[in-house]
Amino acid sequence: MLSKLFSPIQIGPMTSKNRLLMSAMSINFGVDENCCVTDQLIEYFVERAKGGVGMMLVGGGGVHPGGQELPDLPQMYRDDCIPALKEMVQRVKPYDTLFGVQLMHGGRQSYLPQKVAPSALPAPAVVKGEVRALTIDEIKALVSCFGDSARRCQAAGFDFIEIHGAHGYLINQFMAPNSNIRTDEYGGSFENRTRFLFDIIADIQAKTGKDFPIGIRINGNDYIENGWGLDEAVRLAPLLETAGIVYLHVSGGVYGSTELTIPSMYTPHGCFVHLAEAVKRQVSIPVITVGRIKYPDHADQIIQEGKADMVAMGRSFLADPYYPEKARKGEFSRIRPCVGCCLGCIHAVLAKEPGSCVVNPDVGREYKLKQEALPDQSLKILIVGAGPAGMAAARQFAVQGHQVLVCEKKQNTGGVLFLASTAPGREELNDILVFFKQELDRLNVEIRYDTALSLALIHDINPDKIILATGSLPDMPVIKGLFQTKMDLVTNVDVISGNAQVGHRVIVLGGGMTGLITADFLADQGKQVVVLNRKKRFAEEMSSNDRYYLRERLKKGDVSLHKNVSIKGFIDDGVVFKAQGEEMTLTGFDSVVISEKQRPIREAKKLEGKTHVPFYLIGDAKSPRHLMYCISEAEEIARAL
Ligand SMILES: Cc1cc2nc3c(=O)[nH]c(=O)nc-3n(C[C@H](O)[C@H](O)[C@H](O)COP(=O)(O)O)c2cc1C
Ligand code: SF4
Repeated sequence: MLSKLFSPIQIGPMTSKNRLLMSAMSINFGVDENCCVTDQLIEYFVERAKGGVGMMLVGGGGVHPGGQELPDLPQMYRDDCIPALKEMVQRVKPYDTLFGVQLMHGGRQSYLPQKVAPSALPAPAVVKGEVRALTIDEIKALVSCFGDSARRCQAAGFDFIEIHGAHGYLINQFMAPNSNIRTDEYGGSFENRTRFLFDIIADIQAKTGKDFPIGIRINGNDYIENGWGLDEAVRLAPLLETAGIVYLHVSGGVYGSTELTIPSMYTPHGCFVHLAEAVKRQVSIPVITVGRIKYPDHADQIIQEGKADMVAMGRSFLADPYYPEKARKGEFSRIRPCVGCCLGCIHAVLAKEPGSCVVNPDVGREYKLKQEALPDQSLKILIVGAGPAGMAAARQFAVQGHQVLVCEKKQNTGGVLFLASTAPGREELNDILVFFKQELDRLNVEIRYDTALSLALIHDINPDKIILATGSLPDMPVIKGLFQTKMDLVTNVDVISGNAQVGHRVIVLGGGMTGLITADFLADQGKQVVVLNRKKRFAEEMSSNDRYYLRERLKKGDVSLHKNVSIKGFIDDGVVFKAQGEEMTLTGFDSVVISEKQRPIREAKKLEGKTHVPFYLIGDAKSPRHLMYCISEAEEIARAL
């Protein structure tokens, strides 16, 4: 049992019912044209409070229009936004969750074209635009903006605020030598670089009174050259305690760092715990850790071992708002797991789109779904294919009270996603398949294996609707010499499933996500790999966070990457192609692995004309795309029919 995770904890004047904090996430939806919160954001938080989290933070609370991180975030610099914030607090209140706002200024990491920062130095990655150094008067005015914003949060009824001093935003920019080269009282020594933060704390306390709880998020390590490091975090921690801060939340990374703040599936779980552990030794106030802590027993163990007092999770609360309640009851298999892809969440918001989640399409739609009633008529649904789309649809139909049967041609569930999960570092993709399979068992949905769709089956079952989720397979391109070459010709599916062996020197045709994952799979076995990408960019369909770690892996293997190539033709033991205006001939290869486009599998659709039952295509069978669209389409059809 989770003896620690669900024990209460005192944080300053507050008591949290458990040790779980939903960390601040700038979700980029749910505000009106004045950046006041709307029902969309309110219901997003109500749902998560209902799910049982002890503490919860609104992300990206801007203190000044010039420091906005993203376009659609709640702004705390306007008094006229207080009534909507008040309503949000009131709607969350009944669920006994401590509710706070994270206050931040983006500085040089703001999305705006004109940015301000301690020094006129651009952020090393992600954002572009002009950066101007703040004057002393402007610094003092911004300090005051933090205090005023905290006062508004207090007026709206929030339980606490968190100062965002991490992740390379303005406060962190002042603290880190690589972004602060000022020579006045705000630059140079440790005292000067942390002065902005302490001025802010004093201003907030002056405006809200000493009893209003202030937490702070700091980096334990920026993971960038000449950045803020653990030695300084450890030095700062007791000073913050003395200043009256009620908790320290220790994270890591800035834009362009070598370890990312929002790490993908390739990184170990609990990657920043050691930072919190080091800080915790210096203070007696609660210390919170964060970063790829996903499984409840892991979170519990961190607290048991005294490495932190609380565990913050971000993405797990997007994937499943009811994570705490399910964990508390020991229903671990019912938790919808975040798979660490970073695509629906951080990748989307940094592209200035509303945040969502690949495995949970309900994020941001809570306000619409709460009005939905279950259908009054129970239908008989036959689902063809037990890949992610088929299983997601089957689950949702069953949840809505319909009778569901899934037939699957193979002897196992998961489709190509299961294969993808067997590639190095991508095992977590299987978690979502395991979740759906366990849900189907719980909901008593039968899966008939070794069973293709046939007229006999349709007559036997007599369904009201047939959903085809039959997936896709690799498409063979037509390229001169490809079918005449003496090299082995196989597909990525053949290789990853182990159905085909390849020689030592391999050409992978395709530089999308599957191409790069296949290259990594082969390099991991010690093969020498050349990737030919006919597109301009590599793996555009991946999130930049996930792609970053994959590219780092590829650098360690014997892999060479060529993009924007035009292939002249394959020859007996190699290929002739043009890249960057230069013609190249590669010889001495053993195998070619095709990993470009996928083609939908739709054989079963031929039966449509022979029965009166309507057919619906979903997932890759409709059009091969990313997992995100498979799951959302699958759940959508179950709601729509
Ligand atoms: C969409 C998204 C937005 C985020 N925005 C913020 C933010 O505004 N402030 C912040 O301190 N951290 C932000 N984070 C980082 C998370 O709070 C958290 O530290 C990170 O996701 C790692 O925790 P996890 O592995 O449990 O998701 C964001 C993360 C995501 C996924
Ligand atoms: S989009 Fe991917 S990484 Fe983000 S919360 Fe969902 S499953 Fe996790």
